[in-house]
Amino acid sequence: MSYPYQIKNAEQYQAAYKKSVEDPEGFWSEVASHFYWRKHWDKVLDWNFTDPRVEWFKGAKLNITENCIDRHLEKLGDKPAIIWEPNNPEERTRVVTYNRLHKRVCQFAQVLKNNGVKKGDRVCIYMGMVPELAYAVLGCARIGAIHSVIFGGFSAQSIADRLYDANAEYIVTCDGAFRGNKDIPLKSVIDDALIGNRTVKKVIVYTRTRTPVSMIKGRDVWWEDEMEHAEHQVEQEGKVSFPAEEMDAEDPLFILYTSGSTGKPKGVVHSCAGYMVYTAYSFVNVFQYEPGDIHFCTADIGWITGHSYILYGPLSAGATTMMFEGIPTWPDAGRFWDIIDKYKVNILYTAPTAIRSLMGFGLGHVHGHKLDSLKVLGTVGEPINQEAWHWYDDNIGKNKCPIVDTWWQTETGGILISNMAGVTPARPTFATLPLPGVEPVLVDENGKEIEGNNVSGNLCIRHPWPSTIRTTYGDHERCRLNYFSTYPGYYFTGDGAYRDENGNYRITGRVDDVLNVSGHRLGTAEVENAINMHAGVVESAVVGYPHEIKGQGVYAFIIYEHVHGDENLTRQDILQTVTRVIGPIAKPDKIQFVPGLPKTRSGKIMRRILRKIAEGDLENLGDTSTLLDPSVVEEIKRGKL
Ligand code: WT7
Repeated sequence: MSYPYQIKNAEQYQAAYKKSVEDPEGFWSEVASHFYWRKHWDKVLDWNFTDPRVEWFKGAKLNITENCIDRHLEKLGDKPAIIWEPNNPEERTRVVTYNRLHKRVCQFAQVLKNNGVKKGDRVCIYMGMVPELAYAVLGCARIGAIHSVIFGGFSAQSIADRLYDANAEYIVTCDGAFRGNKDIPLKSVIDDALIGNRTVKKVIVYTRTRTPVSMIKGRDVWWEDEMEHAEHQVEQEGKVSFPAEEMDAEDPLFILYTSGSTGKPKGVVHSCAGYMVYTAYSFVNVFQYEPGDIHFCTADIGWITGHSYILYGPLSAGATTMMFEGIPTWPDAGRFWDIIDKYKVNILYTAPTAIRSLMGFGLGHVHGHKLDSLKVLGTVGEPINQEAWHWYDDNIGKNKCPIVDTWWQTETGGILISNMAGVTPARPTFATLPLPGVEPVLVDENGKEIEGNNVSGNLCIRHPWPSTIRTTYGDHERCRLNYFSTYPGYYFTGDGAYRDENGNYRITGRVDDVLNVSGHRLGTAEVENAINMHAGVVESAVVGYPHEIKGQGVYAFIIYEHVHGDENLTRQDILQTVTRVIGPIAKPDKIQFVPGLPKTRSGKIMRRILRKIAEGDLENLGDTSTLLDPSVVEEIKRGKL
């Protein structure tokens, strides 16, 4: 057995599942015993879903970086921890061994310390996909600072909101980031985000693109200078050390902002011990990682997938993890396949939207690649359609690699429902079975459990798992209201699901006002707020509609004061506003100007009707008699894009 907690066949899965439900504490204390603890826990689990309060491995002391790095050094010191592929395939690649990772993380921890960062301080990280991003994240964890990584596609305004919400005093960024043929000026976005900000004390800037940047005296420092200075502090006679901060099991590890059904993103908080145990456990089991395998998760570290399955999960398991700076379609749509052959990647974990987009470029980009190193394929982020599933299976996995369809969320920290590669069977378009330790339930509108098979309902989880969301930063009540109050006694996911005759789950999509665009979460209210900021917009309503590549597209119905001349110019202006307020990822795909919106007498927008229209289902709008003015529906139908 490669890992003591690795489940290797269907019988073991059944036995582990049974044990995990009958004796969750016994089950998880066994898994947790394979990690490095400064102090053992006093109690495995203390919880209630009313407050909510979830405490795993209570009383234990640890540092996650000692588990991700230090404990591997003796055996794996010279083995690659991170293999980095640059945006430009001509540029030299970088292989970061565990020894080197240790040194860099110690150095950066020292840099943070030198700049005044202390345990519990919030550090915002806004960088491209370079190894230094991993050092920054792990450096924070080493000194117990709470990192909050912000995806490079978010605007200055979004960053400003997040900095304010987290009361962050420190930022780590890059001059710029390379993505395809673009050079994104990250530091300049940070400068815009910091206009008027009085909280941020230091900005550490790593040089990547050599794009000109403005460095503010006393506030902005260069990564390179700081690291050089720190090197002398952490290295004595060739021996590197920086003592890791002793963290309580429940101390927060990071904040990651995600969208919900309100206009304001929330800061999901994960804590040290439970998150560590669950990400390593799920990584090893779902992907059936074997020591020596090369794992390639194509996500960005700005999303939870990157946190859990590029960094923390693989590194806790002593794995080799790939980090790719670029995009799947540059220099051409064969880039993933080039990378797989170049490094002999064994596990590929990507999003359905990427698969669908690459499908669209044709098999010409796949041909000529061997892809024979691949053992396991994975998908995440959104439902995968039959066609994409089979394309992936036939052309990439050559029908010999199990495909794991992994369902989870930012809030769940790790994969909760998925088949395990080669251990439990796949069923196309189904995430299939819960991991041992996870108890999904389907409930009806009234929160009553729906038993049996071939049934659909709202997906909830009954019992805490170690990486359950702990709180939403600065607003615990919001956490309770969002996840634990709709169906008392359960964690509510916001997803709908179907359970088949064998207990396999199929995720049918969000049941709240959250969109999933290319695997990215967007709140309709958030997009509406951004649109409404545009001068001339009176009111707007945003819904999702099926989009061939993105999964869901954003359809905006907008009441506009008066469109002068070319409607398309007004559309461009609105898109520019959304880009400014949230970022390019939130740009609507379609904008329809409407004379009014379908509202009930109490003024509530009937989104159901708008969704039907956006989907093109104009005939089955259902009951419109309760509308204040049913005639607007006819007008909207006429103007459908
Ligand atoms: C939402 C969570 C967690 C990784 C990235 C997204 C949808 C996620 C699947 C899947 C169908 C999926 C759900 C979920 N989702 N994985 N395998 N099949 N839907 O994280 O931004 O927190 O979004 O993504 O709707 O609630 P996220």
